[in-house]
Amino acid sequence: MRVVSGIQPTGGLHLGNLLGAILRWVRMQDEAECLFFLADLHALTVDVDPRQLRANVHEMAAALIASGIDPAKSTLFAQSAVPAHPELAWILQCTARMGWLNRMTQFKDKSGKNRESSSVGLFTYPVLQAADVLVYRATHVPVGEDQKQHIELARDIAVKFNNDFDTELFVAPEPFIGGGTAARVMSLRDGLAKMSKSDPSEQSRVGLTDSDETIAQKIRKAKTDPEPLPDDPALLEGRPEAKNLVGILAALSGESIEAVLARFAGQGFGALKPALADVVIATVAPIRGRLDELRHDEAAIDAFLARGAERARELAAPTLAAAYRAVGLSH
Ligand code: TYM
Repeated sequence: MRVVSGIQPTGGLHLGNLLGAILRWVRMQDEAECLFFLADLHALTVDVDPRQLRANVHEMAAALIASGIDPAKSTLFAQSAVPAHPELAWILQCTARMGWLNRMTQFKDKSGKNRESSSVGLFTYPVLQAADVLVYRATHVPVGEDQKQHIELARDIAVKFNNDFDTELFVAPEPFIGGGTAARVMSLRDGLAKMSKSDPSEQSRVGLTDSDETIAQKIRKAKTDPEPLPDDPALLEGRPEAKNLVGILAALSGESIEAVLARFAGQGFGALKPALADVVIATVAPIRGRLDELRHDEAAIDAFLARGAERARELAAPTLAAAYRAVGLSH
């Protein structure tokens, strides 16, 4: 079992990243060999400010360590420090089909009406993502629900490459979603939109740098509906805001949805919201404290990332060399 996953170093970590991915990464460190990276090449697919990108890579690395990623257990690195990712991505771009990429919903969402003026990188983004995992022959890719389609594409690319070149080089990776955490955390302002760093409203997400007061205030103001909470999870369907808040509470308190509803059935959100604020603060406050200390120690973070990159380069090199050989190129 080899676990690989990445996160874009754009903006700060939010509760969606934490619940959808990072808390599971932390748990998997003790179960498997893990590689986690800052997807800084993916961050180039939209306009970037170079100084900001550099700062974001550091900040995000610090945030991952503060959240419990242990560089002594896991290989933690910046994607751009391992050239095998973009090198393999080029080979895989020649395996992936236009039609496959045309179906990617993230490209449609991100390009919106600006399809023609989007970067080519934004379109081929999922192929680089496939290279990210295939280059390590990853078996499991822990991600939130929104990345499932990209991991399925990576599987399709792996299978086609293996067939086309009569090899067993690539392992078709499994998207690993859920597993006790919330696979899809929604905006606090709109239960139908995912919590996202690109949402212009700060009120829509809980950030890991938010103070306790800010967290409590965002949860107090979170959109809800006027009905009391039901006793049956099925009755949360059609009530996206209620479903989201109950889901976050269950994931953070380690309870089932049923158990949360058993506590709050018949009551309004005035009862649930303070309990939710308490568990969110209990999760975020210690991470924020560690992050405050860590982010000033740039030298230590650089050293962790350098060591991680060295290990990642060693692991990636044989797969890349075998891919070149498989397509008929050797050097
Ligand atoms: P990114 O940076 O948008 O998000 C990082 C991880 O957080 C999860 N996530 C969520 N989960 C639940 N609810 C939410 N509201 C929410 N928002 C984000 C994402 O599913 C993801 O697991 N393309 C990827 C980064 C990437 C990658 C990879 C991931 C690049 N290469 C290879 C896995 C394997 C992305 O933009 O994630």
